[in-house]
Amino acid sequence: MKVNGIPYRSIWLGSDGYSVRIIDQTRLPHEFPVVDLTTMEQAATAIRDMWVRGAPLIGATAAYGMALQMAEDPSNTALARAYAVLHATRPTAINLRWALDDMRGLLAPLPPGERAGAAYARAAAICDEDVEINRRIGEHGVALIAAIAARKSGPVNILTHCNAGWLATVDWGTATSPIYQAVARGIDVHVWVDETRPRNQGAHLTAWEMASHGIPHHLIVDNAGGHLMQRGQVDLCIVGTDRTTANGDVCNKIGTYLKALAAHDTGVPFYVALPSPTIDWRVHDGLAEIPIEERAGDEVTKVWGRDPDARVTQVQIAPDATPGANPAFDVTPARLVTGLITERGIAPASAEGLAAMFPEHAGVA
Ligand code: MRU
Repeated sequence: MKVNGIPYRSIWLGSDGYSVRIIDQTRLPHEFPVVDLTTMEQAATAIRDMWVRGAPLIGATAAYGMALQMAEDPSNTALARAYAVLHATRPTAINLRWALDDMRGLLAPLPPGERAGAAYARAAAICDEDVEINRRIGEHGVALIAAIAARKSGPVNILTHCNAGWLATVDWGTATSPIYQAVARGIDVHVWVDETRPRNQGAHLTAWEMASHGIPHHLIVDNAGGHLMQRGQVDLCIVGTDRTTANGDVCNKIGTYLKALAAHDTGVPFYVALPSPTIDWRVHDGLAEIPIEERAGDEVTKVWGRDPDARVTQVQIAPDATPGANPAFDVTPARLVTGLITERGIAPASAEGLAAMFPEHAGVA
């Protein structure tokens, strides 16, 4: 996507052919710092401290983290250590394990001398595949938006949660890809952007994406969505996911479940956009089996913003003695999901629906 007229991906190889460039997303929307990662440990820090975030981008960064390690030390010991260090960064997004398994499966059988080149090539391919997958998600998802546009006057009002935009993937985004493609086709859309406390990925990142692309939008507090749905002001919800189970349960940013409940109660279609690497075919019960990241309580008791002197700073919003509790994700049961927008088409959120769309994975235990 373009930023000030310049095309960007969220991760790319530096001109030295070795370092990996990312955008430090903790500074957005106030600053747009590009950061060079030159070691596997830096890639791990970038994921852990959320300079990069979003399930597909976490996977892509981990893949490049493995490549950085192979360039420094391609031994079996270093390969195993890189896998362990990168895997320990964040627990919920399955794309992390998917990318690491893919890289290790490729690299382990190779002689050490061939590993660095193969690792960079595969990391680049993972990024390119992610871009193509998300472009296709947009092609399938835009049909939903076009169908609503055809039967109403005025904009199609789409609610989204967190940031499942191009910043969360390599490009296009998952939930935002249908929106970008709708805008490109001249469809009138308006986006309700959930602020997404505690880290405000909606306010900081999705709103920035929408504003950068001139897409009509409003930022809303997380509790406003149900009210807007009751009043007929939401035509469609589209969110992303960090891990979707083989039976269609959707784990995503905390608060997604409440939006799905409100959508179910009010009859608003609730779609989840997901690339197939976000499906965990080994998991069949999201509530019981998906590890939910517990983050630091001070993300709840404090907020980041820009002060009048244009300094990006953190302020305390709760009493000093009040601890924050901070589960970062929740699970929306498949029964509340209208459909799963994948790169192959829109699947019912069910074991049968996903197995029919991805028969090569059906029956994985
Ligand atoms: O904690 P984050 O910012 O990594 O959470 C991101 C989300 O919850 C996204 O909705 C999800 O990763 C899908 S991104 C296409």
